[in-house]
Amino acid sequence: MGNLMDLNERGVGGTGFARWTMMTRAAVVLALAAMCGSAAQGQMTAATHAGAADGPWWKHAVIYEIYPRSFQDSNGDGVGDLNGITQRMGYLQSLGVDAIWISPMYPSPQVDFGYDISNYVGVDPQYGTLADFDKLVAAGKEHHVRVILDMVLNHTSDKHAWFVESASSRTNPRADWYVWKDPKGFDAQGKPIPPNNWISGFGGSAWEWVPARKQFYYHEFYKQQPDLNWRNPVVEKAAFDAMRFWLDRGVAGFRLDAIPTLFEDPQMRDNPVEKPGLNAQGDPNLSDMYTSNLPEVHDVIRRMRAMADSYPGNRVLIGETYLPNIAELNKWYGGEKQDELQLPMDMQVGFTNKLDVPLLRQRIKDVETQIGKNHPLLVFDNHDNGRSWERYGDGVHNEAIARLIATLLFTSRSTALMYYGEELGMVTSTPTRKEDVQDPIGITGWPKEKGRDGERTPMQWDASVDAGFSTAAKTWLPVAADYKTVNVKVEEGEPNSLLNWHKKLIALRRDNSALRDGSMTMLDESNNSVLSFVRKGPAGSVVTVLNLTGTEQTVSLDVSGSVTTLVTDVPGLMTGVSLKKMVVPAFGSWVGAVK
Ligand code: GLC
Repeated sequence: MGNLMDLNERGVGGTGFARWTMMTRAAVVLALAAMCGSAAQGQMTAATHAGAADGPWWKHAVIYEIYPRSFQDSNGDGVGDLNGITQRMGYLQSLGVDAIWISPMYPSPQVDFGYDISNYVGVDPQYGTLADFDKLVAAGKEHHVRVILDMVLNHTSDKHAWFVESASSRTNPRADWYVWKDPKGFDAQGKPIPPNNWISGFGGSAWEWVPARKQFYYHEFYKQQPDLNWRNPVVEKAAFDAMRFWLDRGVAGFRLDAIPTLFEDPQMRDNPVEKPGLNAQGDPNLSDMYTSNLPEVHDVIRRMRAMADSYPGNRVLIGETYLPNIAELNKWYGGEKQDELQLPMDMQVGFTNKLDVPLLRQRIKDVETQIGKNHPLLVFDNHDNGRSWERYGDGVHNEAIARLIATLLFTSRSTALMYYGEELGMVTSTPTRKEDVQDPIGITGWPKEKGRDGERTPMQWDASVDAGFSTAAKTWLPVAADYKTVNVKVEEGEPNSLLNWHKKLIALRRDNSALRDGSMTMLDESNNSVLSFVRKGPAGSVVTVLNLTGTEQTVSLDVSGSVTTLVTDVPGLMTGVSLKKMVVPAFGSWVGAVK
């Protein structure tokens, strides 16, 4: 799979899915009658927040990704910041999340909005100071919200002092910290020819010429993001030192950015062409066999895990692991040894982008059964993909579909990862004019690749100016057009809102022992329209039934016992449900206890 194809597959920039005209939210809410949501029914236990005796905290956690530029601006400059996140801790606690993952907030030229780090042990002034960071962690503690940082280890910024030195000569002390290579030769005009055919995930050759060294350096992403040389043990030491700096400050763990791409083929062989034609950036469709997921990476991860485990409190390592199949995913846990990442992300379920029951069932079964004693991490939304609202929505029933997705995420046997605004039904607001685009891949790739701005618009807090995100005349990205009706304040006041749906489910998965720790088994596997499964715990079971089609379905499930509805958006299924014959309307969700 080629680099850019990889990006296309994961839908970076949201070009990989149709955009739909949406029915207004108010209409959808009105169409729903009163919902049942009493999480106080069923087999409730007195279980406390994640971190109870039944395993490490991250096993039951809901982790909430925050894109710091877009969450809350505390100083009116139009860009979100750390103090803004601190101010919103009460909200995060009320939602019930156990941890936040903050996308990079380190000093950075912001070419890739923080994923180009120029100093691993500081805070970018536009986001605040180290003291602000410490305050954020302390506020998190008060609100039972752990803080996870994004660690970008594949590359630094080209403005990082390490790279500046490395690029200055072939003999400086950091000469071997990045991936340098001689040219293949020179063309008729005397221009150096790149060492091989590797292309950047963000378009064009992955090689950039540096006259001072008369060599190329390799960059998997932008040319301002040179790849570190992980074959040099000193690089590993420097990276681990940076991680320790934050672990010492009390972070609960890291999300490891683009972690499969740490190593490249030492022989630097050409990546084979995978399929004919060109990708959205106009490059050939290459496999990434020599630039991604090389076996050497696992040794680094094992050492990293040992380092993280030397700290108390179950610090967690989460991987951004776009991988081809479940067997590859299992390796990232360390397989049976469980000595690598605790939570490599499963990208097979959340980015199928279609409500295809057999496909989703198979992918969920894979991650539930093919990773031994390891624990799944499911995710449907992040800062690199158009929002699930449109990727899964049909343009008419998007809100009901968002409820289905949330129900699947929170009632499955997995750690749950969500993205700010997902709980509100925030839409993807892709720029319509090239001159408005901020994300460089949208500028270079326009109009085929419009970039990732659409899924990074400011959080919608209320109906006031800038949606309560900022007081600036202009925010770094415009607030989405629907903010007056789709925002935290409105949805907090509406019992049937998507926000309250998320709150109910999150509370339920925390308090219900079957959802916390029970096994997970698919039900009625011959049904291609309704996804249903049972979570079995010692004190009873919880059944989830999701009609993923636009037509009413009648299901009959082989589960006996007395049934109590826990959460549903189907008024007729609030009471008196029989699993032997259950009529579920289009896109209806139902979760119930069975004793
Ligand atoms: C990851 C990040 C993405 C970033 C890239 C390069 O895929 O999620 O936002 O552009 O790595 O760091």
